[in-house]
Amino acid sequence: MSLDSTLKVIGKSLRMRGAWGTLVFAGGVAKDGVSQMMPARRAAPRAARRADEAFDEQFGTDTAGRISTSKLDIESSDWVFGHGYQAASAEWLREVIGRLGIRHADYHFFDLGCGKARPVLVASDFPFARVVGVEWSPELVEVARKNLEVYAHPAQGCRDIEVRRGDATTTALPAAPLVIYMYNPFTSEIMSRCIENIERRVEGGGGPVVVLYANPLHLDLWTASPAFRLLHTEEDLAVLVDHGHADGFPWRADE
Ligand SMILES: C[S@@+](CC[C@H](N)C(=O)[O-])C[C@H]1O[C@@H](n2cnc3c(N)ncnc32)[C@H](O)[C@@H]1O
Repeated sequence: MSLDSTLKVIGKSLRMRGAWGTLVFAGGVAKDGVSQMMPARRAAPRAARRADEAFDEQFGTDTAGRISTSKLDIESSDWVFGHGYQAASAEWLREVIGRLGIRHADYHFFDLGCGKARPVLVASDFPFARVVGVEWSPELVEVARKNLEVYAHPAQGCRDIEVRRGDATTTALPAAPLVIYMYNPFTSEIMSRCIENIERRVEGGGGPVVVLYANPLHLDLWTASPAFRLLHTEEDLAVLVDHGHADGFPWRADE
């Protein structure tokens, strides 16, 4: 983060939570910020950057780059608890979604904190009933919607695609089988709210809910949830399924 951005964050935080609160907040952000990048990416940053650029070159999209939260035009006072933008690897995500042995046409795919929507595009290559991205930065929503317009993959299996402007922690979730994906979008302060929202959907019924949590820094909050069972973990990913549908859930862990 540049000095300018850092000063902006500190100024906003001092106004919102005072000096002590700002110190506590800074500790949490520093801890999260260091580990925001997925381990595979950290190990080979140049290769990751090249892959990012290759995706955009191939599809004429704009999904690469990193943008810190202080540079985003987020109206919510919760902005300090959100992480900035960085896209997941398309290749990695394609492989992860491919390990779900589900009938895609039965499921809606949600990316909570979709940024410029690269995962929304990748998910739309699978024949999901619907693919939805939720993002609170209007600027990123605009870029994401343009990406949706220009993306044309020969394999695109879903045409019902939407990028919704709003708060990912409170967004309406349909009573339909769901794949919920997120790439470490927020700090623990608001992850709990996001989990509660998804728990309400599980309690209300509507079929299986599977969560693909990339860079799962706050997995402890998920494993404490009475609604979910942890099915699988690896360095960059945790997979959880609601208890009612966890037995025999078709996830291929060994690829
Ligand atoms: C690390 S990026 C991940 C982008 C995308 N999901 C991916 O995997 O490529 C996290 C995104 O979440 C967004 N975000 C963070 N908190 C949010 C919230 N409460 N509501 C909506 N979007 C949020 C950020 O603006 C950022 O674009």
